[in-house]
Formats: sequence, structure tokens, C-alpha cells
Amino acid sequence: MTDTLHIFDTTLRDGEQSPGCSMNAEEKLKVAQALDTLGVDVIEAGFPAASPGDFASVQQIASKIKGARIAGLARALTKDIEAAAKAIKPAGDRGRIHTFIATSPIHMEAKLRMSPDEVVQRAVDSVKLARSLAPEVEFSAEDAGRSEIDFLCRIVEATIAAGARIINIPDTVGYMTPDEFGSRIRTLIERVPNSDQAIFSVHCHNDLGLAVANSLAAVANGARQVECTINGLGERAGNAALEEIVMILRTRRDRYDIDTGIDTTRIVPTSKLVSKITGSPVQANKAIVGANAFAHESGIHQDGMLKHHKTYEIMTPKSVGWSTNRMVLGKHSGRAALIARYAELGTVLDDAQLQTVFFRFKVLADKKKEIFNEDLLALLSDDVVADERISLIGLHVASGTRDTPVAVVELKVADETLKASSEGDGPVDAAFKAIKSLVEPNGKLLLYSVNAITSGTDAQGEVTVRLQDGARVVNGQGADTDIVVASAKALIDALNKLPDMHAKAVHAQYSGI
Ligand code: KIV
Ligand code: ZN
Repeated sequence: MTDTLHIFDTTLRDGEQSPGCSMNAEEKLKVAQALDTLGVDVIEAGFPAASPGDFASVQQIASKIKGARIAGLARALTKDIEAAAKAIKPAGDRGRIHTFIATSPIHMEAKLRMSPDEVVQRAVDSVKLARSLAPEVEFSAEDAGRSEIDFLCRIVEATIAAGARIINIPDTVGYMTPDEFGSRIRTLIERVPNSDQAIFSVHCHNDLGLAVANSLAAVANGARQVECTINGLGERAGNAALEEIVMILRTRRDRYDIDTGIDTTRIVPTSKLVSKITGSPVQANKAIVGANAFAHESGIHQDGMLKHHKTYEIMTPKSVGWSTNRMVLGKHSGRAALIARYAELGTVLDDAQLQTVFFRFKVLADKKKEIFNEDLLALLSDDVVADERISLIGLHVASGTRDTPVAVVELKVADETLKASSEGDGPVDAAFKAIKSLVEPNGKLLLYSVNAITSGTDAQGEVTVRLQDGARVVNGQGADTDIVVASAKALIDALNKLPDMHAKAVHAQYSGI
């Protein structure tokens, strides 16, 4: 019988540790809902002791998500474990405390300044405390990849005896190779006397590009939980990519005979949602979820595909959620067709959303002949933000080879209508300067990226903007057939996420242009 691998998703915790990828509570809940629909077994919702915001977000996810188990991360410290226990409480018997301490010589000596005996004692005390406060406890030996195997066996045995039912072996710095990591997992399972009382888990980082290979080597050697993230997000070079692990097991069942409970058709929509929310674009040639993952360019390949799709495809785009029905609706389509298509894409529109999205759809259909599923998802992602304080009323840009680009913007800020104009190095720069002249704080631009959502010169451009205001980093997205308009929308989306943003007092000087 095919064995089952548990998927532990840490997009909301380790993924959020990717530079610039922080999410607010509402965004985290959206991702958690998508992960639950995707079918992950465990959602690591955050690190409750890290901040009051993290605590509240884990608590909210624990109370709203009804399928997956909800894990809260905690260092091996009483205050962390108590905070995690409280935050995951609404999940009831689906709550898990994930506590960790470092076990490698370099981490114990240089970082913790603790002896190996002290580390074992702290791990055991922490697992016992966590077990008294939560239904399930996972213990991680941080930097297990560089830990001495005898010490690792000792601490694993002690924490299982203390009540941990999931033992996680992280390759924290992505140093391992598949053969050595696989044999490390086998050694632990064979040598630790009570190993049969726990599920062995792995958590691999991608510093040498081996996170997925190492995770699979561990699975082949007895690991039955893999910690991974959507799009491989995570600290530094990231974690093992969920979509790759899942599709390797599905496509090569002949090699592994292990499967997951993931609904693979939800992979691409989930990847797009995470990319949009974190402002972290997916590279075009990324396996499974990259825009080119199923694109066939050369004549020989296209000829083969026309004769039989299996000539150049080892899995179908449909099986991972790419829409095969590429061309969808046009300007004559009605509400019913729109509702049905969104339902196929996994979104049930309520009346208010339908109203807004249908209007945007008609506007887009006037500009663009063919409307693809990707366009529809972008229309949806343009959702009106509940506390939207700035909105774009109008934008006019003039640019050319001989002229200095100039932009005139009209914004609604709170209840005021404001106008400004500015010159810039290009039309986008001019538009950004004009918008920024009207509000404060207006943040430092950390990232600006443009992606074509579909192909063709009438494709919508999807722009991502990342702004920094002090310690806060926010992302904004905007889509439009006009890239300058998409850019202005993305900037405004990001500005709306800055808590104290308001109209600049000096705006009067610009009005009336
Ligand atoms: O990389 C790591 O070791 C971690 C642990 C907290 C599991 O993220
Ligand atoms: Zn990690």
C-alpha cells in the first residue's frame, strides 16, 4: 500500500523570513485558507513570541482554519512555549507546539553558550512543558545537519521520551548532500531505541540548491514529514519547494511509492497568491509554477507536442492548476459566465465582489480582445482594500524620445481630491514622484518589478512595488494593460498599507493644475 508523507507548510513562518516577504494578518489568513484548500497537513502559522502581531495572527489562523493542524514555533524557552500554547489554543486538538534548540557544536558554543548536557536538559524540559500545554509537540534540533550524530541520537531519544511525537531534523544552513542526509535519517531511525514512537521530519534549506533533493533522500530513508514552502520561499536561499516535493512524489510514484494529501490542481493558484502577497515574483523557469514550466518553444518540441503531449511533458499543466482553457471570456460574456469561471478558479464571488469585478472585467474587455484566467485572477487581486485611504482617480503621462516625461495624477486621499504633476526620468518615475508628493509617509522604494500576466502586446502588466518606512516593509500590486497605470496602482496599494499615511499638508500648492 502507498505510504503517506505529511506536508508541513512553513510559508507563513520560515517563508515570511525571506527578506521583504513580511505579510500582515489579513494576508496571512488568506494564505492559510489557500494552504488548507491545497490540503497541507500542518500549517506553521508563525512564531507567537516574536511580536504581538505574530501572536494575534497565529491565534486568528488557529480559530479560522478547520482542516489542517496549526503549529506555533517556540524557542526552548518558557515564555515562547507559553505564548505558542495560548496562540494555538483555538485549534483545539489540531494544535501543535514546535519547539527547537540548536544542537551543532558551533551553535551550542558560539550562539547559545551552553554545554551539550545543558542543551539536552533544556530540550527535555521544554518538550515536557509544551506537552503539558498542547495536544501535540514537535521538537527540532536546529542545525542537525552539522551536529554530531551521537549527540543527535541522544537528544532525539530524550525528547521522544519527554513526549515529542514529531522529531524534526533541519539542515538549517543547507550544507548536506543527499546521500549523507539520507543516511543521517536512516541512522537516527535505526539507532534511537524509541524512534518508533515518533514521526521523523526534515526541514531543508536551499543554500546549495539541494533542499528538495535532500528532503527526498530523507523520505527514501524513512522521514514521513517534510517541511516546505510555496515557491521555495524562506530564510536566505529559501526552503524546499512544496510544489516540487509533491509533484516528484506524484510523477515518480514508481520510485518512492509515497504520496501526499495535496490537491495538486490548487498548486498554481496558491503559488500565485503567495507571490502576489509577498511581492516575490516566481522566476519564469521555476519548476511546476514558473510561467515557462509548460511552454514549448522550439519547432521540434512543438511538433512532438502536437503528435503526443507525452513526448515533452511528464505531467500535464492541468494537473498542477494551469488552466488549459486559456482563452476564456470576452466582452459579450455575462455575469453567469463570470461567476462560473471564478468558481472553476476556486473563488466564490459574493454580490459585492461580483459587482466590482464585473465592472472591471467589462473595462478590461474593452481594451483587450482575449481575457485569460490569469487576467481574471489579477482583476480579483485588485480587490478594494477595506481601509483604502488613497485611490487613483486619474493619471495622464506624456513621454517620448525628445521630451522630458511628465505625469499629472489625481488622487482621492481620505475625502479630498488632490492633484499633482511631476517630471521624472521616465513615465513611471514621473508618476511615482507626483503620487509621493501628495502623501506622507511615502516610503523608500525597495523593489519595482513588472511581469506580463499573459502574452501579447495587449497583455496586462502586473507590477509589484515594495516600500520601506522605518522598520515596516510593505508590498503593493497593480495590474493594467497600461504599465504606467499598473505601476501607479501598485504604488497606491503599497501606500495604503502604511498605517499612518495621510495627505501632505503642502498639497494645496499642487491643486488646481
Ligand atoms: O532552519 C531551521 O533550523 C528552522 C528551525 C526553527 C526548524 O527554521
Ligand atoms: Zn528554517
